[in-house]
Amino acid sequence: MAMRSQYCGLVTEAQLGETVTLCGWVNRRRDHGGVIFIDLRDREGYVQVVCDPDRAEMFKTAEGIRNEFCLQVKGLVRARPEGTTNDKLKSGQIEVLCHELTVLNASVTPPFQMDDENLSETTRLTHRVMDLRRPAMQRNMMLRYKTAIQVRNFLDKEGFIDIETPMLGKSTPEGARDYLVPSRVHDGEFFALPQSPQLYKQMLMVAGYDRYYQITKCFRDEDLRADRQPEFTQIDCETSFLNEEEIRAIFQRMIKEVFQTQLGVDLGEFPIMTYQDAAFRFGSDKPDLRVKLEFTELTEVMKDVDFKVFSTPATTKGGRVVALRVPGGAAISRGEIDQYTDFVKIYGAKGLAWIKVNEVNKGRDGLQSPIVKNLHDAAIAEILKRTGAQDGDLLFFGADKEKIVNDSIGALRLKVGHSEFGRKSGLFEDKWAPLWVVDFPMFEHDEEDGRWVAVHHPFTSPKDGHEELMATDPGKCIAKAYDMVLNGWELGGGSVRIHRADVQAKVFDALNITPEQQRAKFGYLLDALQYGAPPHGGLAFGLDRLITLMTGSESIRDVIAFPKTQRAQDLLTQAPSPVDEKQLRELHIKLRNAMVTTTEA
Ligand code: AMO
Ligand code: AMP
Repeated sequence: MAMRSQYCGLVTEAQLGETVTLCGWVNRRRDHGGVIFIDLRDREGYVQVVCDPDRAEMFKTAEGIRNEFCLQVKGLVRARPEGTTNDKLKSGQIEVLCHELTVLNASVTPPFQMDDENLSETTRLTHRVMDLRRPAMQRNMMLRYKTAIQVRNFLDKEGFIDIETPMLGKSTPEGARDYLVPSRVHDGEFFALPQSPQLYKQMLMVAGYDRYYQITKCFRDEDLRADRQPEFTQIDCETSFLNEEEIRAIFQRMIKEVFQTQLGVDLGEFPIMTYQDAAFRFGSDKPDLRVKLEFTELTEVMKDVDFKVFSTPATTKGGRVVALRVPGGAAISRGEIDQYTDFVKIYGAKGLAWIKVNEVNKGRDGLQSPIVKNLHDAAIAEILKRTGAQDGDLLFFGADKEKIVNDSIGALRLKVGHSEFGRKSGLFEDKWAPLWVVDFPMFEHDEEDGRWVAVHHPFTSPKDGHEELMATDPGKCIAKAYDMVLNGWELGGGSVRIHRADVQAKVFDALNITPEQQRAKFGYLLDALQYGAPPHGGLAFGLDRLITLMTGSESIRDVIAFPKTQRAQDLLTQAPSPVDEKQLRELHIKLRNAMVTTTEA
């Protein structure tokens, strides 16, 4: 006899009159004086089991069961009585009249109510097994699986082949800190866990595999946020002999097909926006286009005003002054403006100037603001004209170094757009907003170190004709790099790579990496590029981010079975944890800040 005949959640009218054998967990047990109802749950959903007292032995067992017991139920599928059907459940038209009830395993009292929606994350991660048993989490994991398999099938059809690359390797520079693994065999030497398979996939292109993909773990020891994990999963792809547009087209199609199949959503055509445009209009390289607010450029206008807060950045190289017009924002209170002022300070802003536009036709007299007294009439007129201000609007201003203005007013734009006020006032449109951001700069100047760093990674190709700029004017050099952005999240990113060793060497020069360092760090790649390396490029998607967006989850941790906390810990297994002295000794490691070691031999 089979242990079960089908899933609980999939019993329907089709089985009316049949005897079924089900296995699952007790979601709830209700004692209706004489009759006991059990909502039995498995991966596919719930079914209602009815236990009548006329089968005395079975009924006695039913009386003893509690939530989360694991049961086997054998019984007859019958229609639910009139008025007791539940259209929300697949099994909502039927119930199972219990003939035999077996407790496969009892459960201690669960650490929380399974349907409690307000659990702290600490509780959920500490008791992750029970958290994962909850239907919402099971739906997330199921969608993750279905998406992954659809991606595999798509890529397989397109000729991509899955090739595994090492987890123990040499550090690849994606810009984050490495997780290191000490070598026992080689005293004092370390492997690095991959930040991505970047260089391996490029070498596979040189090796002639033509199209590669992998759904694989990447490891980055960086500061964690809602959309970041120290180990996360990439859908990592690389192809030879395709240009930037062709690469984007394949992967746009892939994401569109996934959304269509899994969510029934048509993402439409993805707009293409240059990095410069995105920064200019939204202060971000991953603009959330659901928010209908845009920057107004005012740098030129503020050059000759008396107000130093504006005129200094306007007349200093690398400075920027912008306004953010909030339609209807005059309704925002002074208290809220103060809160927004504190908010932009997180991003380095020194303040948040503002103007309430009461009556635009009255010019200066129609405005309410702590700063208009410092602005001459022409500047005020130009502000009103450029922003297109209407009666009842609020204008915010950012004035500082370009990066600070972009970061702070960019974040303010999102904050206001997503606020209750923003949603009520139609400043936020609830839709899917994908786009490509293209034409990233090759290099970014690191103020602290006073040197150029790669914006994407150092293997990204410059635009045709931009090779010389790498030496003469690195800041102007544009890369063949692209990001796919969805609802303000960077979903994926990639580039066309450098396939010539001489161009690669120029990038290293611009980055101030000496020939000796080049050899030591990337000698193997430079060597490979010399054997007729094909033109190639690719990209990688963050699978965790993709599923987070698709499921509407708040955190990436809701779509990973066993994630780390914001402090990079696994609360379930209590990793990381100390290891004993013997292990350290074998690895030739002596701890710098060790307390007294207890297992010293
Ligand atoms: P990149 O560093 O942009 O590119 O990473 C690609 C995508 O991976 C996801 N991602 C993350 N997801 C969760 N937690 C993290 N800590 C995290 N870091 C990145 C993002 C991101 O878009 N080798 C290149 C790709 C290429 O050029 O082909 C790379 O790794 O969704
Ligand atoms: P202050 O003259 O410094 O009191 O500033 C006048 C107004 O300008 C206040 O509303 C400040 O919040 C705002 N402010 C100050 N510095 C900046 C800045 N860098 N960018 C935008 N607004 C600012």
